[in-house]
Amino acid sequence: MSAAPRTTAAGPDGTAAGAPLLRVRDLQIELITDAGVVRAVDGVSFDVHPGETVTIIGESGSGKSTTAMGVLRLLPDELAVVSGEVAVQGRDVVADPRAAAALRGRAVSLIPQDPMTALSPVHSVGRQLLEVVRLRRPGLDRAAARARAVELLDRVRIPEPGRRLRAYPHQLSGGMLQRVLIAMALAGEPALLVADEPTSALDVTVQAGILDLLLELQESTGVGILMITHDLGVARLVSDRVHVMRNGRFVESGEVEQIVGAPAEEYTRSLLRSVPALGGWDGAAGRDEPARPDGDPS
Ligand SMILES: Nc1ncnc2c1ncn2[C@@H]1O[C@H](COP(=O)(O)OP(=O)(O)O)[C@@H](O)[C@H]1O
Ligand SMILES: [Mg+2]
Repeated sequence: MSAAPRTTAAGPDGTAAGAPLLRVRDLQIELITDAGVVRAVDGVSFDVHPGETVTIIGESGSGKSTTAMGVLRLLPDELAVVSGEVAVQGRDVVADPRAAAALRGRAVSLIPQDPMTALSPVHSVGRQLLEVVRLRRPGLDRAAARARAVELLDRVRIPEPGRRLRAYPHQLSGGMLQRVLIAMALAGEPALLVADEPTSALDVTVQAGILDLLLELQESTGVGILMITHDLGVARLVSDRVHVMRNGRFVESGEVEQIVGAPAEEYTRSLLRSVPALGGWDGAAGRDEPARPDGDPS
């Protein structure tokens, strides 16, 4: 949830006024596959402003990840044809792909879907985090880089961060690993986080803690979040605005209360109906009572 945009005047389309962190207009992405060309993203437009969470929700295969990877320009040129406008802090990364490389990890960072496979199993968590810290702050000496790594683990509420640096990925739970990956994403002090199903690979009890952490980081830093999820329970918990995606297009967009409370599309209602199966998201549960057993925040 955002602190800032609530006090900002709304524009004619109901979105917050002021320059967006991310401005996407008529984004089209064609994927070149063995079976031919697939238009995975078919003309979507949206904005993310500082301090707000904008969620793209849709069933599997609807084009959510392709949209997220397109925004980050992480799709290989030989496999994906991207057109339209994607401006990160005013810089169009479609017109200038080199701008994307300069912005990634700094202006905008990715939180990946599966924390269990995102880290190398053969190096310690600390070594991998330090590598990212040094990349973002090349001037830091060894001791300062380590202090920065400890500070980042502390920010994602990992207890005994100094000790955790020596752990290998298989020694940490999925929730802990996702906290490490969020710490890595924060190393460059990004203005925008792109989170592609950041809790889908985690146990339901762990999900709430991770989402609560993201909201807490948003409160303290004003970071904008582009959230990708298939889970309306997640969308309901974190979003300011929601875009419902199907077959590469947005079929419905609006404030989270409107999309969840009074969905216009049958497709959205079908996503809503699938929520109780995942359980635990009703009322204030995730928000006010995050699952945080003592000693293990995940
Ligand atoms: N690497 C790929 N090769 C071929 N087709 C892909 C690839 N990734 C995604 N697609 C296709 O693009 C469409 C959108 O996929 P994706 O963006 O991954 O959906 P979502 O993240 O919503 O599940 C689907 O039709 C999918 O089959
Ligand atoms: Mg996906």
